[in-house]
Amino acid sequence: MAEKENTTGRTARTIAMKGGGYYSQSTRGAKDVIDNASGMLVEAANAINPPGSDGPIVLADFGAADGGTSESALRRCIEQIRTRFPDNQIQVTYTDLPSNDFSVLFKNLLGVGPQTAHTYLTDIENVFVNACGIGFHRQLLPNTSLDIGFSATAMHYISEKPCPIENHVHMVGASGETLAAYAQQARQNWNDLLVARAKELRPGGRLVMLNFGIDEEGRYLGNTGGINMFDTFADIWEQMCNEGTISQAEFINTSFPQYYRTVEEFCAPFKDSDSPVYQAGLRLVSAKTGVVGCPYRRAFDEAGSAMSAREFAKSYVPTLRSWSEAVFLSGLHDARPADERHQIVDAFYQRYEDRVASDPNGHAMDYVHCYLAVEKAQP
Ligand SMILES: C[S@@+](CC[C@H](N)C(=O)[O-])C[C@H]1O[C@@H](n2cnc3c(N)ncnc32)[C@H](O)[C@@H]1O
Repeated sequence: MAEKENTTGRTARTIAMKGGGYYSQSTRGAKDVIDNASGMLVEAANAINPPGSDGPIVLADFGAADGGTSESALRRCIEQIRTRFPDNQIQVTYTDLPSNDFSVLFKNLLGVGPQTAHTYLTDIENVFVNACGIGFHRQLLPNTSLDIGFSATAMHYISEKPCPIENHVHMVGASGETLAAYAQQARQNWNDLLVARAKELRPGGRLVMLNFGIDEEGRYLGNTGGINMFDTFADIWEQMCNEGTISQAEFINTSFPQYYRTVEEFCAPFKDSDSPVYQAGLRLVSAKTGVVGCPYRRAFDEAGSAMSAREFAKSYVPTLRSWSEAVFLSGLHDARPADERHQIVDAFYQRYEDRVASDPNGHAMDYVHCYLAVEKAQP
């Protein structure tokens, strides 16, 4: 019996990226992260075993959103595979939650969406794509069918929130038993999803995972020395609660179903030879952390007096909104009409924009990732 997974229900509604192509258009930084790490996918293409007979080589992007951010990196990987195995067909499976906007993904790949007109699918022959709208904490592909599994900026999502966070909106602001409950949920999810990938992978297959996390200096997304983005979220939401725009229950009901693992937490299942992950055959090839600077901040700094603080705020806040809006919308009571919920959330992001515009110093959403390469041991 498959394990219960709440990422098909309410939790999924709090995870969805803003659809209609908004995600890729507003998330240049996520694309920078993937493009910078595309060499890891080329290495994976060089490492995999030759396919049996004339079978396809199978890639999967776990938590792909609208596919726009990974297209160039997957193209590099596919080109390298084609160099090694010119005659084999290549299949790419995109996975995400059922609530994901898959129609934009296919439009992007066909070059008719908001993304570039040329993609690997339009340009390279004998490549086939399909999609799976089921969460990655369970097995999604048949046993020993996958050659390269890729995932970027997705596996920090946990399958369910173990408890409310009373005084904040994210686990980075939690402590004590609340933080321990999130850590336990994340540990279980990490083990489950890795065991699932171990079953899917062929021997010699690779995983390339770029995951949000906490680095050796305690930095994480939007907290790299300037103003802490998650504290700002919590502060504005609390302000709206104190003013009576939202209720106390709604404040408490609002939290991200996410956990930022440390490098130790990412690596733990690979270091313990008794762990189910190790027993299933997964071995760590490399693990490192890295920071990719906020492109909106960089553009503002480079523009000097040519860009006003308001213009920066207007360019910057949509990237926060692309992945966080669903959390704030779903924290509000279901009894509120949809229009009212949207007005409250619009006001929330307007306040964030106003704060940035009134003093842009320290505002930046730098990306902090743990970059993992993993292989499935040969028998
Ligand atoms: C921040 S986006 C990253 C998208 C893309 N990989 C990138 O790097 O730009 C996170 C994605 O993970 C997806 N996601 C979250 N939990 C998931 C789960 N349990 N299974 C599959 N996808 C999930 C979300 O729906 C969303 O599309």
